[in-house]
Order: sequence, then structure tokens, then C-alpha cells
Amino acid sequence: MDNYRSVFRRELVDIQGIPLFWSTAEQWSQVETFEARPDDLLISTYPKSGTTWTSEIVDLIYNNGDAEKCKRDVIYNRVPFMELIVPGLTNGVEQLNNMQSPRLVKTHLPVELLPSSFWKNDCKMIYMARNAKDVAVSYYYFYQMAKIHPEPGTWEEFLDKFMAGKVSFGSWYDHVKGWWEKSRDYRILYLFYEDMKEDPKGELRKILTFLEKDLPEETVNKIIYHSSFNVMKQNPNANYTSMNKEEMDHSVSPFMRKGISGDWKNQFTVAQYERFEEDYEKKMGESTLKFRSEI
Ligand code: A3P
Repeated sequence: MDNYRSVFRRELVDIQGIPLFWSTAEQWSQVETFEARPDDLLISTYPKSGTTWTSEIVDLIYNNGDAEKCKRDVIYNRVPFMELIVPGLTNGVEQLNNMQSPRLVKTHLPVELLPSSFWKNDCKMIYMARNAKDVAVSYYYFYQMAKIHPEPGTWEEFLDKFMAGKVSFGSWYDHVKGWWEKSRDYRILYLFYEDMKEDPKGELRKILTFLEKDLPEETVNKIIYHSSFNVMKQNPNANYTSMNKEEMDHSVSPFMRKGISGDWKNQFTVAQYERFEEDYEKKMGESTLKFRSEI
């Protein structure tokens, strides 16, 4: 299909100043008018912050730790990516409209672009945040393998775009701060990738409390096992290897790449690190939101 190839590697298109996939922008009214339901659980992240990890954990919780039930389908069908609309390939809004409640909904939208029905329905939301340097590195490799993004250019060029917020879903800095501010007034559980790496059981307990769910210790241990990086990496329903190679090329870089904190040290030069930190301080210095770049 000619159309098939022409959807990839296209420039991003701004919606209210936020760069989005061209096809999402083209169908923006569908996203904007999306009808959330009161029992939806929204899993919100800036890209590469542990969306898939959080999604697998929550689906395991919803299924009381039954890993076989979570193999009923691939992660992008169990937790549809609401605003991902690609002609001839996928439409997250339609997928969700056809789904029975209770739904798990994935989004990367910044707060100002989230469909208003989520706020009106006071839906519960889990926001997973990850330190900026690891996100930038992970995003760079993801841009290379996931062809819905424009070409990333060199690492140096990509890093500039990341710092300027000229990557899909916009500025990491504004995204994490926007959701942080909202978490004061709405039912948002704000979590950190680094905490989840360091103490998966403690973080899982926070999620259970938030979802008002009580599970026995044995089930909690099972969930931690099945959502661990090495197990998810081998799970075709969680590792995105089921995607067509034209969409995601795992030979360029696997979706389940490293799954660690502090990988940025293998990527940043000293000069890049210094420039990044100076800029970071300007953008994040005043915020009460603090990240750990290694654990
Ligand atoms: P790396 O590229 O640093 O390895 P997202 O799901 O938001 O796209 O995030 C993808 C990042 O989360 C990738 O980071 C991926 O390896 C990591 N990841 C996925 N599953 C994970 C898990 N179970 N534990 C830790 N990291 C995980």
C-alpha cells in the first residue's frame, strides 16, 4: 500500500504549540471530543518514562496477578494509546470507544491537551515520570526504531530538539511540571521510574492503595516478577515485537532496550552534560519537583 509508507517519518504538526504526530493533529477533533468514562484509569506519561511498564503492572493488578489473562492480547490493545491515530493502521479513539469498561487508557498528552471529559469525570490517573537525561537517551533510540517519528538526526541534534521541546509531545520540562501541578487538585498518583526501579514493591503498594485494591503478598510478588524488565522483554505481548517492522524496527534498537536508571552516562559527553544541566536549572530550578538521575 503506497499510503502505508507515506505515513512514516513525517514532520510533526503543532496543536496549541505542542508538536504531535501529523496524523494525530489532522484528526485532532476526534481526540479533543473523546468521551472518558468515570471508571476509566488514565496512564499518563511523557514518552519513554515507563508507560509500558506501568501499563503491564496495572493490567496485572486488574487481573489479580494472572499473567495468562494478561497474555490475552498485546499491550497496545489492552491499554490503547488514545491519541495515536495513523491512517490505515490504528485509531486509539475508536479502539477505546469499542472497549468495555473498566478501560485502561494510555496518553502522552500534556495537561493542557487532555480531553476535558477526563477532568469532568474526575477519572483516576497514574502519572509516571522519569529523569530527563535518561528520557532523552531512550527517546533518541526510540525515534530511530519507531518510524512514526521524524528522523532524529545525530544525538547532538536530537538533544538540542529535546531541550527545545521540539520533539513529539513537546517539552519534557513543561509536561512533568504541568502534571505535577494538576496532581494537587485531581486524583493523580504521581510516580517516578527511579523509585519503581529501586523499590518495586513499595511503589506497587502505592498503586494498590490508590486503586483501593487489596492483594495478598503472593500475588504482589507475582506481579513484580511478571512486570520485571527481563520477563517483559521476553513477553511478546509486552515487548512490541508483534508490530510490523515498517512501524518499529527492533533490529535498529529494541523497544525493551536497557531498562535501567543512569544510562545517560554512556551517552552524554561532558560538554553536553554541562550545557544540559545549566539549561535544566533554568527550567526546573524553581519547581518543587525533584528528580534523581541515578539510583
Ligand atoms: P530504555 O530505552 O532506557 O531501556 P515507554 O514504555 O514509556 O515507551 O518507556 C520505555 C522505556 O522503559 C525503555 O527504556 C524501556 O526499556 C523501559 N522499560 C520497559 N519495561 C520496563 C520494565 N519492566 N522495567 C524497567 N524499565 C522498563
